Amino acid sequence: MSDLSAPASDLSAPAIGSAAGIDDDVLSPERIADPHGYFSLLRAHAPVYWNERYRAWFIHRYDDVLDSLRDPRFSSERIGPAYDRLSDEQKAQRRPTYDILMDWLVFRDPPDHTRLRRLVSRAFTPRAVDAWRDRIAGVVDELIDGLGRRERFDLIEDFAYPIPAVVIAEMMGVPAGDRDRFKDWSDDVMVLVFGARGVGDRRARAQQGLIELAAYLGELVAHYRRRPADNIISNLVEASEGDDSLEDPEIVANCVLFLFGGHETTTNLIGNGMRVLLQHPDQIGRLRDDPALIKPAVEEILRFDGPSKMEVRTLAHSVEMRGKTLAAGDMVYLVQHAANRDPEAFDRPDRFDVAREPNNHIGFGFGLHFCLGASVARLEGAIALEALVRRLPNLELGPDPEVWVPTMLSRGLERLPVSLR
Ligand code: HEM
Repeated sequence: MSDLSAPASDLSAPAIGSAAGIDDDVLSPERIADPHGYFSLLRAHAPVYWNERYRAWFIHRYDDVLDSLRDPRFSSERIGPAYDRLSDEQKAQRRPTYDILMDWLVFRDPPDHTRLRRLVSRAFTPRAVDAWRDRIAGVVDELIDGLGRRERFDLIEDFAYPIPAVVIAEMMGVPAGDRDRFKDWSDDVMVLVFGARGVGDRRARAQQGLIELAAYLGELVAHYRRRPADNIISNLVEASEGDDSLEDPEIVANCVLFLFGGHETTTNLIGNGMRVLLQHPDQIGRLRDDPALIKPAVEEILRFDGPSKMEVRTLAHSVEMRGKTLAAGDMVYLVQHAANRDPEAFDRPDRFDVAREPNNHIGFGFGLHFCLGASVARLEGAIALEALVRRLPNLELGPDPEVWVPTMLSRGLERLPVSLR
Protein backbone atom coordinates (compact mmCIF):
# COMPACT_ATOMS: atom_id res chain seq x y z
CA MET A 1 0.00 0.00 0.00
CA SER A 2 1.35 3.40 -0.90
CA ASP A 3 1.53 6.50 1.27
CA LEU A 4 -0.86 8.28 -1.03
CA SER A 5 -3.64 6.04 0.09
CA ALA A 6 -2.80 6.84 3.73
CA PRO A 7 -5.39 8.62 5.91
CA ALA A 8 -6.31 12.07 4.66
CA SER A 9 -4.94 13.68 7.81
CA ASP A 10 -1.51 12.62 6.62
CA LEU A 11 -1.88 14.46 3.34
CA SER A 12 -3.33 17.86 2.74
CA ALA A 13 -5.38 16.72 -0.28
CA PRO A 14 -7.64 13.80 0.60
CA ALA A 15 -8.57 12.65 -2.90
CA ILE A 16 -5.16 13.01 -4.42
CA GLY A 17 -4.45 9.34 -5.07
CA SER A 18 -7.43 8.61 -7.28
CA ALA A 19 -8.35 12.11 -8.45
CA ALA A 20 -4.88 13.04 -9.60
CA GLY A 21 -4.14 9.53 -10.84
CA ILE A 22 -0.94 9.33 -8.85
CA ASP A 23 0.66 5.95 -8.65
CA ASP A 24 4.15 4.74 -7.96
CA ASP A 25 5.45 4.40 -11.51
CA VAL A 26 8.19 7.00 -11.84
CA LEU A 27 9.19 5.47 -15.18
CA SER A 28 5.81 5.58 -16.98
CA PRO A 29 6.09 7.08 -20.49
CA GLU A 30 4.22 10.24 -19.37
CA ARG A 31 6.54 10.81 -16.40
CA ILE A 32 9.62 10.17 -18.47
CA ALA A 33 8.38 12.78 -20.95
CA ASP A 34 7.51 15.23 -18.14
CA PRO A 35 8.38 14.36 -14.54
CA HIS A 36 7.76 17.81 -13.10
CA GLY A 37 3.99 17.75 -12.61
CA TYR A 38 4.19 14.41 -10.83
CA PHE A 39 6.98 15.50 -8.49
CA SER A 40 5.24 18.82 -7.75
CA LEU A 41 2.13 16.97 -6.66
CA LEU A 42 4.14 14.71 -4.38
CA ARG A 43 6.14 17.66 -3.01
CA ALA A 44 2.89 19.40 -2.08
CA HIS A 45 0.94 16.44 -0.75
CA ALA A 46 3.37 13.68 0.23
CA PRO A 47 6.77 15.32 0.63
CA VAL A 48 8.26 12.28 2.36
CA TYR A 49 6.78 9.37 0.47
CA TRP A 50 7.23 5.59 0.67
CA ASN A 51 7.07 4.27 -2.90
CA GLU A 52 6.04 0.63 -2.70
CA ARG A 53 7.03 -0.18 -6.29
CA TYR A 54 10.66 0.81 -5.70
CA ARG A 55 10.54 -0.01 -1.97
CA ALA A 56 12.23 3.29 -1.20
CA TRP A 57 11.54 6.72 0.29
CA PHE A 58 11.24 9.69 -2.04
CA ILE A 59 12.02 13.10 -0.49
CA HIS A 60 10.76 16.12 -2.41
CA ARG A 61 11.09 19.39 -0.47
CA TYR A 62 14.17 21.57 -0.95
CA ASP A 63 14.91 21.95 2.78
CA ASP A 64 14.48 18.24 3.44
CA VAL A 65 16.75 17.29 0.54
CA LEU A 66 19.42 19.75 1.74
CA ASP A 67 19.15 18.51 5.33
CA SER A 68 19.49 14.92 4.10
CA LEU A 69 22.57 15.73 2.02
CA ARG A 70 24.18 17.27 5.14
CA ASP A 71 23.23 14.36 7.39
CA PRO A 72 25.80 11.54 7.83
CA ARG A 73 22.99 9.08 8.51
CA PHE A 74 22.20 9.31 4.77
CA SER A 75 24.99 7.11 3.49
CA SER A 76 26.46 6.84 0.00
CA GLU A 77 28.05 3.43 0.75
CA ARG A 78 25.74 1.22 -1.21
CA ILE A 79 28.06 -0.91 -3.28
CA GLY A 80 29.58 -3.00 -0.44
CA PRO A 81 26.18 -3.76 1.16
CA ALA A 82 24.66 -4.62 -2.24
CA TYR A 83 27.54 -7.03 -2.90
CA ASP A 84 27.10 -8.67 0.50
CA ARG A 85 23.47 -9.42 -0.32
CA LEU A 86 24.38 -11.43 -3.46
CA SER A 87 24.44 -15.24 -3.58
CA ASP A 88 27.86 -16.88 -3.92
CA GLU A 89 27.19 -17.54 -7.59
CA GLN A 90 26.20 -13.91 -8.23
CA LYS A 91 29.25 -12.71 -6.31
CA ALA A 92 31.52 -14.75 -8.56
CA GLN A 93 29.77 -13.47 -11.72
CA ARG A 94 29.64 -9.80 -10.78
CA ARG A 95 32.91 -9.35 -8.93
CA PRO A 96 34.66 -7.31 -11.68
CA THR A 97 31.86 -4.73 -11.70
CA TYR A 98 31.81 -4.39 -7.93
CA ASP A 99 35.60 -4.10 -7.72
CA ILE A 100 35.45 -0.98 -9.88
CA LEU A 101 32.32 0.58 -8.41
CA MET A 102 33.63 0.06 -4.88
CA ASP A 103 36.46 2.53 -5.56
CA TRP A 104 34.22 5.30 -6.97
CA LEU A 105 34.36 8.23 -4.57
CA VAL A 106 30.68 8.94 -5.18
CA PHE A 107 29.88 5.65 -3.43
CA ARG A 108 32.04 6.24 -0.34
CA ASP A 109 31.42 7.91 3.02
CA PRO A 110 34.04 9.63 5.18
CA PRO A 111 36.80 8.89 6.00
CA ASP A 112 37.40 6.99 2.72
CA HIS A 113 35.54 9.63 0.74
CA THR A 114 37.53 12.43 2.35
CA ARG A 115 40.82 10.82 1.37
CA LEU A 116 39.77 10.01 -2.20
CA ARG A 117 38.17 13.40 -2.76
CA ARG A 118 41.27 15.25 -1.54
CA LEU A 119 43.54 13.33 -3.90
CA VAL A 120 41.20 13.17 -6.90
CA SER A 121 40.21 16.84 -6.79
CA ARG A 122 43.81 17.75 -7.69
CA ALA A 123 42.87 16.88 -11.26
CA PHE A 124 40.15 19.57 -11.42
CA THR A 125 41.74 22.84 -10.33
CA PRO A 126 40.04 25.98 -11.78
CA ARG A 127 43.18 26.75 -13.79
CA ALA A 128 43.33 23.24 -15.24
CA VAL A 129 39.68 23.45 -16.27
CA ASP A 130 39.84 26.96 -17.73
CA ALA A 131 42.78 25.93 -19.89
CA TRP A 132 40.27 23.91 -21.95
CA ARG A 133 38.16 26.92 -22.94
CA ASP A 134 39.64 27.42 -26.43
CA ARG A 135 39.71 23.73 -27.23
CA ILE A 136 36.02 23.35 -26.26
CA ALA A 137 35.12 26.40 -28.38
CA GLY A 138 37.03 24.84 -31.29
CA VAL A 139 35.11 21.54 -31.00
CA VAL A 140 31.79 23.42 -30.78
CA ASP A 141 32.51 25.67 -33.76
CA GLU A 142 33.58 22.80 -35.94
CA LEU A 143 30.36 20.94 -35.21
CA ILE A 144 28.20 24.02 -35.88
CA ASP A 145 30.01 24.60 -39.20
CA GLY A 146 28.72 21.18 -40.29
CA LEU A 147 25.19 21.68 -38.91
CA GLY A 148 24.68 25.07 -40.55
CA ARG A 149 24.65 23.34 -43.94
CA ARG A 150 21.84 20.92 -43.05
CA GLU A 151 18.08 21.44 -42.97
CA ARG A 152 17.36 18.93 -40.24
CA PHE A 153 19.46 17.12 -37.70
CA ASP A 154 19.41 15.45 -34.30
CA LEU A 155 20.73 17.87 -31.73
CA ILE A 156 21.82 15.00 -29.47
CA GLU A 157 23.69 12.75 -31.88
CA ASP A 158 25.09 15.54 -34.03
CA PHE A 159 25.97 18.09 -31.34
CA ALA A 160 25.34 17.43 -27.63
CA TYR A 161 26.81 13.93 -27.61
CA PRO A 162 30.19 14.50 -29.29
CA ILE A 163 31.22 17.61 -27.31
CA PRO A 164 31.70 16.11 -23.83
CA ALA A 165 32.88 12.84 -25.37
CA VAL A 166 35.78 14.60 -27.08
CA VAL A 167 36.50 16.95 -24.16
CA ILE A 168 36.64 14.39 -21.34
CA ALA A 169 38.61 11.93 -23.44
CA GLU A 170 41.16 14.63 -24.35
CA MET A 171 41.32 15.89 -20.76
CA MET A 172 42.17 12.36 -19.66
CA GLY A 173 44.79 11.89 -22.35
CA VAL A 174 42.91 9.28 -24.42
CA PRO A 175 44.32 9.21 -27.99
CA ALA A 176 41.90 10.39 -30.70
CA GLY A 177 41.87 7.02 -32.46
CA ASP A 178 40.36 5.25 -29.43
CA ARG A 179 37.48 7.61 -28.73
CA ASP A 180 34.72 5.88 -30.64
CA ARG A 181 35.14 2.83 -28.44
CA PHE A 182 34.19 4.98 -25.44
CA LYS A 183 30.72 5.55 -26.81
CA ASP A 184 29.97 1.83 -26.68
CA TRP A 185 31.51 1.33 -23.24
CA SER A 186 29.85 4.39 -21.78
CA ASP A 187 26.43 3.31 -23.12
CA ASP A 188 26.91 -0.11 -21.54
CA VAL A 189 27.92 1.27 -18.15
CA MET A 190 25.12 3.82 -18.19
CA VAL A 191 22.53 1.05 -18.31
CA LEU A 192 23.83 -0.28 -15.00
CA VAL A 193 24.34 2.98 -13.16
CA PHE A 194 21.28 4.92 -14.25
CA GLY A 195 18.94 1.94 -14.16
CA ALA A 196 17.29 1.94 -17.58
CA ARG A 197 14.41 -0.48 -17.68
CA GLY A 198 13.59 -3.10 -20.24
CA VAL A 199 17.22 -4.00 -20.89
CA GLY A 200 17.27 -7.74 -20.23
CA ASP A 201 20.99 -8.50 -20.32
CA ARG A 202 22.00 -5.19 -18.79
CA ARG A 203 24.35 -6.57 -16.18
CA ALA A 204 26.29 -8.70 -18.58
CA ARG A 205 26.61 -5.85 -21.07
CA ALA A 206 27.61 -3.33 -18.43
CA GLN A 207 30.17 -5.65 -16.94
CA GLN A 208 31.75 -6.44 -20.29
CA GLY A 209 31.96 -2.72 -21.07
CA LEU A 210 33.52 -2.01 -17.69
CA ILE A 211 36.12 -4.77 -17.97
CA GLU A 212 37.24 -3.57 -21.39
CA LEU A 213 37.31 0.06 -20.33
CA ALA A 214 39.25 -0.69 -17.13
CA ALA A 215 41.85 -2.77 -18.95
CA TYR A 216 42.33 0.03 -21.46
CA LEU A 217 42.63 2.71 -18.77
CA GLY A 218 45.10 0.54 -16.84
CA GLU A 219 47.39 0.66 -19.88
CA LEU A 220 47.00 4.44 -20.08
CA VAL A 221 47.89 4.84 -16.38
CA ALA A 222 51.03 2.74 -16.90
CA HIS A 223 51.88 4.84 -19.97
CA TYR A 224 51.55 8.18 -18.15
CA ARG A 225 53.50 6.86 -15.17
CA ARG A 226 56.42 6.37 -17.55
CA ARG A 227 55.82 9.52 -19.57
CA PRO A 228 54.00 12.21 -17.57
CA ALA A 229 51.90 14.68 -19.58
CA ASP A 230 49.46 17.49 -18.94
CA ASN A 231 46.23 15.54 -18.38
CA ILE A 232 43.94 14.17 -15.68
CA ILE A 233 45.51 10.71 -15.55
CA SER A 234 48.97 12.21 -15.05
CA ASN A 235 47.60 14.53 -12.36
CA LEU A 236 46.10 11.55 -10.57
CA VAL A 237 49.33 9.56 -10.84
CA GLU A 238 51.19 12.50 -9.30
CA ALA A 239 48.58 13.40 -6.66
CA SER A 240 49.86 12.66 -3.20
CA GLU A 241 49.54 13.90 0.31
CA GLY A 242 52.24 13.01 2.83
CA ASP A 243 52.88 9.31 2.22
CA ASP A 244 49.48 8.81 0.67
CA SER A 245 48.79 8.53 -3.03
CA LEU A 246 46.27 6.80 -5.28
CA GLU A 247 46.71 3.12 -6.14
CA ASP A 248 46.40 2.21 -9.83
CA PRO A 249 43.00 0.48 -9.39
CA GLU A 250 41.71 3.63 -7.63
CA ILE A 251 42.89 5.79 -10.52
CA VAL A 252 41.32 3.46 -13.09
CA ALA A 253 38.01 3.24 -11.21
CA ASN A 254 37.68 6.99 -10.78
CA CYS A 255 38.62 7.64 -14.40
CA VAL A 256 35.72 5.38 -15.35
CA LEU A 257 33.59 7.59 -13.11
CA PHE A 258 34.82 10.78 -14.85
CA LEU A 259 34.34 9.35 -18.31
CA PHE A 260 30.89 8.28 -17.44
CA GLY A 261 29.90 11.13 -15.11
CA GLY A 262 31.42 13.68 -17.45
CA HIS A 263 29.79 12.40 -20.57
CA GLU A 264 26.07 11.60 -20.48
CA THR A 265 25.32 14.30 -17.92
CA THR A 266 26.91 17.07 -19.95
CA THR A 267 25.25 15.82 -23.14
CA ASN A 268 21.97 16.11 -21.25
CA LEU A 269 22.76 19.62 -20.00
CA ILE A 270 23.24 20.76 -23.60
CA GLY A 271 20.27 18.75 -24.94
CA ASN A 272 17.77 19.64 -22.19
CA GLY A 273 19.09 23.21 -22.25
CA MET A 274 18.63 23.82 -25.97
CA ARG A 275 15.19 22.21 -25.86
CA VAL A 276 13.97 24.47 -23.06
CA LEU A 277 15.51 27.54 -24.71
CA LEU A 278 13.77 26.77 -28.01
CA GLN A 279 10.51 26.40 -26.10
CA HIS A 280 11.01 29.93 -24.69
CA PRO A 281 11.77 32.29 -27.62
CA ASP A 282 11.55 35.33 -25.32
CA GLN A 283 14.37 33.92 -23.19
CA ILE A 284 16.53 33.15 -26.25
CA GLY A 285 15.94 36.76 -27.29
CA ARG A 286 17.30 37.98 -23.94
CA LEU A 287 20.37 35.78 -24.38
CA ARG A 288 20.99 37.14 -27.87
CA ASP A 289 20.72 40.72 -26.62
CA ASP A 290 23.04 40.05 -23.70
CA PRO A 291 25.40 37.05 -24.19
CA ALA A 292 26.73 37.53 -20.63
CA LEU A 293 23.44 35.99 -19.49
CA ILE A 294 24.72 32.58 -20.63
CA LYS A 295 26.15 31.88 -17.15
CA PRO A 296 22.89 32.37 -15.22
CA ALA A 297 21.06 30.67 -18.12
CA VAL A 298 23.10 27.48 -17.60
CA GLU A 299 22.28 27.60 -13.87
CA GLU A 300 18.60 28.04 -14.70
CA ILE A 301 18.67 25.02 -17.03
CA LEU A 302 20.24 22.97 -14.23
CA ARG A 303 17.41 24.09 -11.94
CA PHE A 304 14.48 23.96 -14.34
CA ASP A 305 15.19 20.69 -16.15
CA GLY A 306 18.63 19.48 -15.09
CA PRO A 307 20.31 16.20 -16.08
CA SER A 308 20.23 14.78 -12.53
CA LYS A 309 16.70 13.85 -11.47
CA MET A 310 17.53 12.38 -8.08
CA GLU A 311 20.36 11.22 -5.85
CA VAL A 312 20.42 7.95 -3.93
CA ARG A 313 21.28 7.31 -0.29
CA THR A 314 20.86 4.41 2.15
CA LEU A 315 20.05 5.03 5.78
CA ALA A 316 22.84 4.07 8.16
CA HIS A 317 20.48 4.80 11.10
CA SER A 318 16.76 5.44 11.36
CA VAL A 319 15.56 9.02 10.76
CA GLU A 320 12.33 10.87 11.65
CA MET A 321 11.10 13.22 8.94
CA ARG A 322 7.74 14.98 8.67
CA GLY A 323 6.09 12.48 10.99
CA LYS A 324 7.44 9.43 9.17
CA THR A 325 10.02 6.96 10.46
CA LEU A 326 12.60 6.06 7.85
CA ALA A 327 14.23 2.84 9.05
CA ALA A 328 17.93 1.98 9.08
CA GLY A 329 18.76 0.17 5.85
CA ASP A 330 15.98 1.87 3.83
CA MET A 331 16.83 3.31 0.45
CA VAL A 332 16.13 7.00 -0.11
CA TYR A 333 15.78 9.00 -3.32
CA LEU A 334 16.45 12.72 -2.86
CA VAL A 335 14.47 14.20 -5.74
CA GLN A 336 16.43 17.18 -7.09
CA HIS A 337 13.79 17.87 -9.74
CA ALA A 338 11.19 18.36 -7.02
CA ALA A 339 13.47 20.39 -4.73
CA ASN A 340 14.58 22.66 -7.57
CA ARG A 341 10.98 23.72 -8.18
CA ASP A 342 9.98 24.10 -4.54
CA PRO A 343 8.01 27.39 -4.17
CA GLU A 344 9.43 27.69 -0.63
CA ALA A 345 12.92 27.99 -2.15
CA PHE A 346 12.37 29.64 -5.55
CA ASP A 347 10.22 32.55 -6.65
CA ARG A 348 7.73 31.40 -9.33
CA PRO A 349 9.58 28.08 -9.69
CA ASP A 350 7.78 26.89 -12.84
CA ARG A 351 8.89 29.96 -14.74
CA PHE A 352 12.04 29.59 -16.86
CA ASP A 353 14.10 32.77 -16.38
CA VAL A 354 17.61 32.96 -17.87
CA ALA A 355 18.51 35.82 -15.52
CA ARG A 356 17.18 34.22 -12.31
CA GLU A 357 18.93 35.59 -9.24
CA PRO A 358 19.47 34.16 -6.67
CA ASN A 359 19.48 30.60 -7.95
CA ASN A 360 20.61 28.14 -5.29
CA HIS A 361 19.63 25.05 -7.26
CA ILE A 362 20.99 21.64 -6.34
CA GLY A 363 21.38 20.29 -9.87
CA PHE A 364 25.00 19.35 -9.05
CA GLY A 365 24.07 18.00 -5.61
CA PHE A 366 25.19 19.61 -2.40
CA GLY A 367 27.65 19.04 0.45
CA LEU A 368 30.43 16.45 0.56
CA HIS A 369 29.59 14.87 -2.79
CA PHE A 370 28.95 18.10 -4.70
CA CYS A 371 29.81 17.36 -8.32
CA LEU A 372 33.56 17.39 -8.82
CA GLY A 373 33.17 18.13 -12.53
CA ALA A 374 30.74 21.05 -12.12
CA SER A 375 33.19 23.62 -13.50
CA VAL A 376 33.90 21.44 -16.56
CA ALA A 377 30.18 20.95 -17.21
CA ARG A 378 29.41 24.65 -16.73
CA LEU A 379 32.14 25.63 -19.15
CA GLU A 380 31.06 23.16 -21.83
CA GLY A 381 27.37 24.01 -21.39
CA ALA A 382 27.98 27.76 -21.62
CA ILE A 383 30.23 27.57 -24.68
CA ALA A 384 28.00 25.11 -26.55
CA LEU A 385 24.68 26.87 -25.89
CA GLU A 386 25.98 30.40 -26.42
CA ALA A 387 27.47 29.42 -29.80
CA LEU A 388 24.34 27.58 -30.91
CA VAL A 389 22.05 30.51 -30.02
CA ARG A 390 24.33 33.02 -31.73
CA ARG A 391 25.23 31.08 -34.86
CA LEU A 392 21.95 29.29 -35.64
CA PRO A 393 19.26 31.93 -34.97
CA ASN A 394 16.71 30.09 -37.13
CA LEU A 395 16.86 26.78 -35.27
CA GLU A 396 13.50 25.28 -34.24
CA LEU A 397 12.22 22.09 -32.63
CA GLY A 398 10.77 19.28 -34.76
CA PRO A 399 9.19 18.26 -36.99
CA ASP A 400 9.87 14.72 -35.69
CA PRO A 401 9.04 14.00 -32.05
CA GLU A 402 11.64 14.08 -29.28
CA VAL A 403 12.54 10.82 -27.52
CA TRP A 404 13.57 10.64 -23.83
CA VAL A 405 15.81 8.00 -22.29
CA PRO A 406 13.68 6.07 -19.76
CA THR A 407 15.99 6.23 -16.75
CA MET A 408 15.38 6.68 -13.05
CA LEU A 409 18.17 8.97 -11.87
CA SER A 410 18.97 11.02 -14.95
CA ARG A 411 16.94 13.10 -17.38
CA GLY A 412 18.11 13.20 -20.95
CA LEU A 413 17.04 12.91 -24.55
CA GLU A 414 17.80 10.01 -26.83
CA ARG A 415 16.82 12.19 -29.81
CA LEU A 416 16.00 15.88 -30.21
CA PRO A 417 15.08 16.45 -33.86
CA VAL A 418 15.53 20.08 -34.92
CA SER A 419 15.38 21.97 -38.20
CA LEU A 420 16.67 25.24 -39.65
CA ARG A 421 13.90 27.51 -40.90
C1 HEM B 1 25.75 18.87 -16.16
C2 HEM B 1 26.58 17.87 -15.91
C3 HEM B 1 26.68 17.18 -14.58
C4 HEM B 1 25.72 17.00 -13.63
C5 HEM B 1 24.26 17.45 -13.64
C6 HEM B 1 26.34 16.27 -12.54
C7 HEM B 1 25.69 15.92 -11.37
C8 HEM B 1 26.31 15.37 -10.27
C9 HEM B 1 25.67 15.12 -9.00
C10 HEM B 1 24.22 15.41 -8.67
C11 HEM B 1 26.60 14.60 -8.17
C12 HEM B 1 26.39 14.20 -6.69
C13 HEM B 1 26.05 12.74 -6.54
C14 HEM B 1 25.66 12.39 -5.10
O1 HEM B 1 25.59 13.26 -4.23
O2 HEM B 1 25.41 11.20 -4.87
C15 HEM B 1 27.83 14.47 -8.92
C16 HEM B 1 29.00 13.98 -8.41
C17 HEM B 1 30.13 13.81 -9.17
N1 HEM B 1 30.35 14.24 -10.47
FE1 HEM B 1 29.03 15.22 -11.63
N2 HEM B 1 27.64 16.04 -12.87
C18 HEM B 1 27.90 16.58 -14.10
C19 HEM B 1 29.10 16.60 -14.78
C20 HEM B 1 30.25 16.01 -14.33
C21 HEM B 1 31.52 16.04 -15.02
C22 HEM B 1 31.78 16.78 -16.34
C23 HEM B 1 32.38 15.28 -14.28
C24 HEM B 1 33.84 14.95 -14.51
C25 HEM B 1 34.56 15.36 -15.49
C26 HEM B 1 31.68 14.84 -13.09
C27 HEM B 1 32.22 14.10 -12.06
C28 HEM B 1 31.61 13.87 -10.85
C29 HEM B 1 32.26 13.16 -9.75
C30 HEM B 1 33.67 12.59 -9.74
C31 HEM B 1 31.33 13.12 -8.69
C32 HEM B 1 31.51 12.49 -7.32
C33 HEM B 1 31.91 13.52 -6.30
C34 HEM B 1 31.97 12.97 -4.90
O3 HEM B 1 31.36 11.92 -4.62
O4 HEM B 1 32.65 13.59 -4.06
N3 HEM B 1 30.39 15.30 -13.16
N4 HEM B 1 27.64 14.97 -10.19
